[in-house]
Amino acid sequence: MARQTRTLCAAALGLMGAATLAFGHGDVSPQAVDTAGLPKTGDEWLIENPYRADKVGDEVWLTAIEIGASGYNQNCARCHGLEVVSGGLAPDLRFLEAEEYGDEWYVERFRTGYTQNGTTKMPAFGELLGQDAAWAIRTYIETRPDGDAMEEYAGELKGLRDTLAGYASDQSGADPDALKARLNEIAGSIETLSGAPVADSVAFRAAKLIDGTPERYRAAAETLTIGLSAAQ
Ligand code: HEC
Repeated sequence: MARQTRTLCAAALGLMGAATLAFGHGDVSPQAVDTAGLPKTGDEWLIENPYRADKVGDEVWLTAIEIGASGYNQNCARCHGLEVVSGGLAPDLRFLEAEEYGDEWYVERFRTGYTQNGTTKMPAFGELLGQDAAWAIRTYIETRPDGDAMEEYAGELKGLRDTLAGYASDQSGADPDALKARLNEIAGSIETLSGAPVADSVAFRAAKLIDGTPERYRAAAETLTIGLSAAQ
């Protein structure tokens, strides 16, 4: 009995070893992505991102970004970098054009991965994660803001953050519309590197939150705080 257990363990370890090798510098196997809340894309693989705002509206688009962020962090970040900023191990995906040409290339790599001289440099994700997850991750990737553009506004965003934090406890003299408008203006000048029309920047997020209530002022201030510290 004991020997049998040991043999089983050895076999299991052997399998784990093989899986580790197959994933190159990865020790983690693909993590399923919960895509509830997104319209189903079906069995046939598309060649263009179906979750862009001009096709599905802002709400579904934002849900896709949210789900894609988590899918990306669990499955892609260890090679392609946190926030999609590559450290050089694998290509910087922020530059993939957000249109059919870039999409086609993206989905090809996502489905089949990449093997060179018998070594898997990137595992295939198509079967494991499915199409809805593929396009959610794509939506997250293509909406990453240009970090340099963010930096330009860091000082002003800090000021706006302090104003918002102040309004959270005292709304006298607060002008939510002006704040929203300025944040949207800043959001509009922070571009993506993919050519996608709107970058999912903290300015964009904060502007969306503001509705004149103290809770939302606080949430918007927090969003800016987190974004500004991540940009350091
Ligand atoms: C184990 C490391 C690893 C993981 C994990 C990984 N990739 Fe890759 N990926 C690579 C490497 C290496 C390349 C470069 C292959 C080549 O030379 O074409 C690449 C290339 C790509 C490309 C083509 C980029 C280009 O500019 O040509 C896309 C798109 C891509 N990966 C998407 C993803 C997505 C999405 C995920 C997560 C679901 C992911 N990758 C996970 C290593 C990885």
